[in-house]
Amino acid sequence: MKEKIEKLREEMNQKLENVETLQELNDIKIMYLGKKGPIVELMNYMKELSVDEKKVFGKLINDLKTEMKNRIESLCIQLEMETLNQKLEQEQVDITLPATKIRIGSPNILEKLIEEVEEVFLSMGYDVVDGPEIEEDKYNFEMLNIPKGHPARDAQDTFYIEGEEILLRSQTSPVQVRTMLKGGGKTPIRMICPGKTYRRDDDDATHSHQFMQIEGLVVDHDISLSDLKGTIDVIVKKLFGSSIETRFRPSYYQFTEPSVEVDISCFNCKQDGCNICKHTGWITIAGAGIVHPNVLKMSGYDPKQWSGFAFGFGAERMAMLKYDIKDLRVFYNTDLRESNTFDRREDFLND
Ligand code: DAH
Repeated sequence: MKEKIEKLREEMNQKLENVETLQELNDIKIMYLGKKGPIVELMNYMKELSVDEKKVFGKLINDLKTEMKNRIESLCIQLEMETLNQKLEQEQVDITLPATKIRIGSPNILEKLIEEVEEVFLSMGYDVVDGPEIEEDKYNFEMLNIPKGHPARDAQDTFYIEGEEILLRSQTSPVQVRTMLKGGGKTPIRMICPGKTYRRDDDDATHSHQFMQIEGLVVDHDISLSDLKGTIDVIVKKLFGSSIETRFRPSYYQFTEPSVEVDISCFNCKQDGCNICKHTGWITIAGAGIVHPNVLKMSGYDPKQWSGFAFGFGAERMAMLKYDIKDLRVFYNTDLRESNTFDRREDFLND
């Protein structure tokens, strides 16, 4: 029995000496110390021995078991350390290699343009105001001098929500009315309102059932068309460059009189003629005019004392022009590759 134990000790020691991996060590542990291993077998065999023999051999077997357990444990720690060191060695960072570029998201280009416009107007003392997208017919049309049945309504193919009274606003102009009603016919107004608008258009490269407008309204004493021109000039120069000129062409809107179409000189070809300006040298960017006396009156401002100007920009159109974007739908998809190319275009414009 004693010899058997000694032989087993030798055999195990030999095996443990040659162990190289944790897996091998684990296999040895299971093989020798496991339920079906030789040590358990020896322990079972003890039942056959006399009490005195049990005392002697029991101790020998237990000693062997404890000795092997301890040896395996310390070998395990040693091997774990070795594996860790090896891993650290292999994973050493080569700081001379070029770093992987971390891609950062960028703001939506339309949002960026609106923020730029807001900044310019805020610096001129304007308020940036908000209005509801679900609007009443009264504000969207009637108080803007477009009564029921007026043909001008057809041009703005509107989404009605409830009967003929509640709709998705087809323009941001109702916010003019709301702002004047708040002013109560007493306080001067300087505001812009960027916001979403809706029309029953089929989506294509230049149309969308939902688009952004930037409305503007100034009401004060002695406001004239030249105030409007000066103001538009500031924003145009900020957005498209200081050499850009503005011109007004007569137009017609129900809520302004006179009404104008705002053109800017083509920043792309410097008026030599190109596709952007359709070889005319000019690009239309907004509708505007002097607030119609009826509109002032309906909103509580006495046209004998007050006058004002208003304008409405199409935000997508401005961004498309500025960043040379051919398809309006890119503003509403979320592909980062698109926004990244816009950033590059902006760098180019700023150079
Ligand atoms: N609301 C007009 C539209 O959607 C744009 C517009 C034109 C707004 C003239 C104005 C304005 O404030 O004075 O077509």
